[in-house]
Amino acid sequence: MTNVEPDLDTVPETVGAPGAPHEIHVELGDRTNHRAPSAEPDGVIELRDLEVFYDKFRAVSGVNLVFGSKEITALIGPSGCGKSTVLRCLNRMNDLVPGAHVMGDVRFHGVDMYDASVDVIEVRRRIGMVFQKPNPFPKSIYDNVAYGPRVTGMKPKNMDDVVEQALHGAALWDEVKDKLKQSAYGLSGGQQQRLCIARTIATSPEVILMDEPCSALDPIATAKIEDLMVDLAKTYTIIIVTHNMQQAARVSYRTAFFTAAADEHGQRTGRLVEFDSTSKIFGNPSDKRTEAYITGRFG
Ligand SMILES: Nc1ncnc2c1ncn2[C@@H]1O[C@H](COP(=O)(O)OP(=O)(O)O)[C@@H](O)[C@H]1O
Ligand SMILES: [Mg+2]
Repeated sequence: MTNVEPDLDTVPETVGAPGAPHEIHVELGDRTNHRAPSAEPDGVIELRDLEVFYDKFRAVSGVNLVFGSKEITALIGPSGCGKSTVLRCLNRMNDLVPGAHVMGDVRFHGVDMYDASVDVIEVRRRIGMVFQKPNPFPKSIYDNVAYGPRVTGMKPKNMDDVVEQALHGAALWDEVKDKLKQSAYGLSGGQQQRLCIARTIATSPEVILMDEPCSALDPIATAKIEDLMVDLAKTYTIIIVTHNMQQAARVSYRTAFFTAAADEHGQRTGRLVEFDSTSKIFGNPSDKRTEAYITGRFG
């Protein structure tokens, strides 16, 4: 990997961008997809009959999904099919959305994540989230990474070590080690996104949720994040929403394809169409809607 960070961080992706024609042939696993998925995911997180409303609008319904630990699972599908909505259920981020209401079961290690006895802050420490647009705080690089350990009351013996380890873990240390006290805003977009990943891993999560983490980045910064994801999956469970099918094919072990069809009242509710190994989804999908989507004839 090169250390040269381009200053083109806002160049839009051309491959897999909304409305762009999709490649018929999607290359699989060229990013050292080092581990074939086991037959069945172990269910570190499980969704049973998940249904999410925004006030009266039913955004997603009937989602049953089982995530495997230390795997990368991709959630794909056309815009508005509920990918972000489902992702936000996985660490109770939808609690923060006015009007959002979650039904069904979300289980983490078998425990109902929405049970009244569950500590939401602890849920979000163990299941961290990285967003579409890098969102570092207006603080120094160091303080961004130390933020999580401080606010969650972790009392590490040596905060410097925690910060250094997290920055190493996010493949950013070499680029920032001499300017830890400088503002995070001085970093490029790709570096800021890796800083956000460092901030997330500083609190020792088990799961990292990523919602289109590369959509604001140029291809070189995107490739670095993809390499990083594959590396992080040795330690963490990763669930990523992406509109970039090549990205899903390159980094993930399993893929869930969602779509939203209008019902008789014209209401579009997102549904899970197919969930399988990524090679099956992109190589020989079972459902015609999946095939239509990945070959660009739909969505
Ligand atoms: N905060 C919100 N309030 C109301 N409706 C929302 C909100 N967020 C998403 N929706 C609606 O829920 C549906 C699913 O959206 P979303 O999960 O963002 O889809 P995706 O991430 O697949 O593009 C869409 O119809 C969207 O308009
Ligand atoms: Mg989304």
